[in-house]
Amino acid sequence: MKDLSLHILDIAENSINAGAKKIVLRIVEDPVKDLYSISVEDDGPGIGVDILHRVEDPFFTTNRKKKFGLGIPLLKQAALDCGGHFNITSNPGAGTTLFASFKLSHIDLKPLGDIGSTMLALICGHPEIRYVLFYEKGDFYYGFDTDELKEALGEAPVNLPEVLMSIRNSINESTGGRAAAMWKANE
Ligand SMILES: Nc1ncnc2c1ncn2[C@@H]1O[C@H](COP(=O)(O)OP(=O)(O)O)[C@@H](O)[C@H]1O
Ligand SMILES: [Mg+2]
Repeated sequence: MKDLSLHILDIAENSINAGAKKIVLRIVEDPVKDLYSISVEDDGPGIGVDILHRVEDPFFTTNRKKKFGLGIPLLKQAALDCGGHFNITSNPGAGTTLFASFKLSHIDLKPLGDIGSTMLALICGHPEIRYVLFYEKGDFYYGFDTDELKEALGEAPVNLPEVLMSIRNSINESTGGRAAAMWKANE
């Protein structure tokens, strides 16, 4: 995976598959601590201790259609490759939080990529879920919340094309995320 936004999509899909109703994504760029970190927190059923120590194993998945479960191991590897840390906190009934950090100045740190499209894919796939995104860079702060968006839209559906495009653009503009060439070609 070439962009962190694709890792984030995979991790958020785990939360969706687990039955989460709310997913909170945090992206923090801290130039002072030379740290880039992402976390994905859900209110799903959590992971029991017996399974928790196995989810970082590439051959572990609870998806019956697959033999491998690479989402978590790949993000962990990306973090460790960049001098960062990785951990999962979870308790049955208490949701799950995945945390990955990277050395901001590390040459192998992947770009964030098209995080706006990641959010669109999540919203379109499961509009009933509440998604919250926090982005911090030094003193700059940006927040996005589908509950606030729904309130602002009133009766209008969230997944109208023009609404989706403006969400994607404003998220990418605020977070330094980059839209893929495929999207740009249509603009
Ligand atoms: N947020 C979560 N809540 C509950 N279980 C999870 C969560 N994230 C991951 N898991 C468990 O960890 C396994 C491995 O996840 P992952 O490495 O992304 O592989 P995959 O999604 O392909 O199975 C999943 O199959 C699931 O059992
Ligand atoms: Mg997965």
